[in-house]
Amino acid sequence: MLAMRAIAALAMGAAMVFESWAFIMPHQDPTDTLILVNKYNRAPAVPVALVKPDVTPTKEALSENIYMQPEAAAALEDLFAGAAADGITLYATSGFRSYSTQKAIYERKLERMSERAANASVAKPGYSEHQTGLAMDVEGHSSLGSGLVEEFGETPEGIWLAEHCHEYGFIIRYPKDKTDITGYVYEPWHIRYVGKDAAAEITALGVTFEEYILMVRADRVQAIEKGEGSGEE
Ligand code: DAL
Ligand code: ZN
Repeated sequence: MLAMRAIAALAMGAAMVFESWAFIMPHQDPTDTLILVNKYNRAPAVPVALVKPDVTPTKEALSENIYMQPEAAAALEDLFAGAAADGITLYATSGFRSYSTQKAIYERKLERMSERAANASVAKPGYSEHQTGLAMDVEGHSSLGSGLVEEFGETPEGIWLAEHCHEYGFIIRYPKDKTDITGYVYEPWHIRYVGKDAAAEITALGVTFEEYILMVRADRVQAIEKGEGSGEE
């Protein structure tokens, strides 16, 4: 499958130069681990089952802010345990957010910076991946107290997370220098659960989630054109 995607990536190379990242994914299922939520694709306003992962929150006061969908929560527990086995201590800061929580975060940001800067770092209410229950903001022991800052990517915990999160089904959703595609500045702390297969492919190909979803879509179109059924995987 990885080879197929690589070929699809090459075939799409020229087209992608001109591709607008404002593509719309219709009828997304909120429990689909490949759901695309970004500036152009709203988080479905449908409740999803949520559980609290058995991991340590950054502060006790945040313990009610770390819920995730069950599959993602189990994967997060595995990831934190895997980190601990390597001597890395991670903390969970922010998982599922309701529309109103995201609205409050966005409005607080607007009070502190220009609209342009706010839009590059916080999603407008309705458009945050955190509203799916598949994302988590993570902090590390060595930088505890400094908040969610770009420097986290240079800490031992940030480096470990970038190297290993795919083994547990997560990706660094907003990589460095990909703002033109993702719409957001580098966020080494924000991990998104996509499942182990997709995380392995995204990491091996070194692509953003937007590019990956385009590849998946291209594969499906090709499969349909070749008469291989719906192309569903
Ligand atoms: N910081 C990410 C983009 C969010 O607000 O969902
Ligand atoms: Zn986040």
